[in-house]
Amino acid sequence: MPVTLADHPLIKHKLGLIRKADISTKDFRDLSSEIARLLTYEATKDLETEQITVEGWAGPVTVDTIKGKKITVVPILRAGIGMMNGVIDMIPSAKISLVGLYRNEETLEPVRYYVKLTSNMEERIALILDPMLATGGTLVATIDLLKAAGCTHIKGLFLVAAPEGLRRLEKAHPDVEVYVASVDEKLNDVGYILPGLGDAGDKIFGTK
Ligand code: URA
Repeated sequence: MPVTLADHPLIKHKLGLIRKADISTKDFRDLSSEIARLLTYEATKDLETEQITVEGWAGPVTVDTIKGKKITVVPILRAGIGMMNGVIDMIPSAKISLVGLYRNEETLEPVRYYVKLTSNMEERIALILDPMLATGGTLVATIDLLKAAGCTHIKGLFLVAAPEGLRRLEKAHPDVEVYVASVDEKLNDVGYILPGLGDAGDKIFGTK
């Protein structure tokens, strides 16, 4: 499974700031967006371009334009919303497909409570957004449903990943490309990433 550790100095610096325990909601939100923007830059490096001719100030000029599959951004509710604006800043025409899953505490299986995908998923590159790749359960279920909808080109953007989650993803969906700002040490016994960021959803939405 292709994993890109996006360790640009700007990303590393911002990750250092976002890890602080006393960070405000505003700063956590701003930094999530900023890191998401930089991850988008990495994740779109291989998009195909083609040359077209446009009318420039001094006459016709040949320019590059992105061609091929169009992008849908797939924030996983609710924390994925915190990365969405950063990605949309970079790809303003991207369609948004929302996925909401919760875990049934008896079966431990992810259950869908909200799924609204854009049209023609088979023609799109999906960029899944989730700040935390922890156990990987929600992510694998999200990829299952994207593939069931016909999507064949899927990338995941995460602020922080746990090795356990990466291993689970590799087993279930080795074709998915991962872009992550940090691969942390491990999960704790309740599934939080260490050192991690804490509860990213609570920090983005200001809830507790
Ligand atoms: N979700 C979070 O918000 N944080 C973690 O560390 C793991 C899952």
